[in-house]
Amino acid sequence: MSLLTVKENMVMVNNGNIDIASSIANNNVVFDTKELNLWYGETHALKDINLKIKENEVTAIIGPSGCGKSTYLKTLNRMVELVPTVRTTGEISYKGQSILDKSFKVENLRTRVGMVFQKPNPFPKSIYDNIAYGPRIHGIRNKKILDEIVEKSLRGAYIWDEVKDRLKENAYGLSGGQQQRLCIARTLAIEPDVILMDEPTSALDPKSTLKIEDLVQELKKDYSIIIVTHNMQQAARISDRTAFFLDGEVVEFDVTDTIFTKPNDSRTEDYISGRFG
Ligand SMILES: Nc1ncnc2c1ncn2[C@@H]1O[C@H](COP(=O)(O)OP(=O)(O)OP(=O)(O)O)[C@@H](O)[C@H]1O
Ligand SMILES: [Mg+2]
Repeated sequence: MSLLTVKENMVMVNNGNIDIASSIANNNVVFDTKELNLWYGETHALKDINLKIKENEVTAIIGPSGCGKSTYLKTLNRMVELVPTVRTTGEISYKGQSILDKSFKVENLRTRVGMVFQKPNPFPKSIYDNIAYGPRIHGIRNKKILDEIVEKSLRGAYIWDEVKDRLKENAYGLSGGQQQRLCIARTLAIEPDVILMDEPTSALDPKSTLKIEDLVQELKKDYSIIIVTHNMQQAARISDRTAFFLDGEVVEFDVTDTIFTKPNDSRTEDYISGRFG
């Protein structure tokens, strides 16, 4: 959803005509989660999750440590299956296709849904080869095309000007904030629809954090972004909607402004005002 549409919707809310959060129809829904439950062995980590994530929005997931934020994010690209004891029930559909179904090709999902982690994790390769890695795996060998993808991805992650003269240098020589933007560029190179970000700025200084926040605002024009954050100000600054998780449940999911100014549930209020977590 464009900023304009968000504003239009907010006007409608203000006029009292429509409750935008409860009126999310199925159009523009990128991930629809229904009655999702997940267990790690005996640990019931996600409980009856129902969430509709909208396209071209930034959705923030907040909540105290251990409440299931990362687990939920990793079910969206099925990375959670790498843990052998995991069992799920319920449904997640990505653009109408049921992704938990074993017949759904997980490789297809991973090219549509990119992920950025808490700690920047560039490969021990050159800046260029970090970005070209995914496209090469997808069979692109043409040097001119790869050059174009590398430049476009680095520009998209607002790091091109900082690295354009050192593309052959090892990515480990970049600062932490630059490495994180490089990892975002690497994700963009596979042209996903959705970018999952798990606390992408928690290892960064305030200046690099602001750069990533600005970048997220830019990226939502073309991508749907789901970001886990412990930073309330960050969620308030950059997200359109916020889901508050607690003990494996979604306590509240609404327009970010509502979550931070007039939450429905007292537990949300307690959390955002720093009373626990
Ligand atoms: N690989 C695993 N095996 C067993 N239990 C796990 C595993 N990963 C997570 N859990 C458990 O699942 C629950 C949710 O964990 P998760 O990592 O999703 O929380 P989180 O909200 O991301 O926390 P944090 O804010 O600390 O990152 C916790 O009880 C955790 O101990
Ligand atoms: Mg986590």
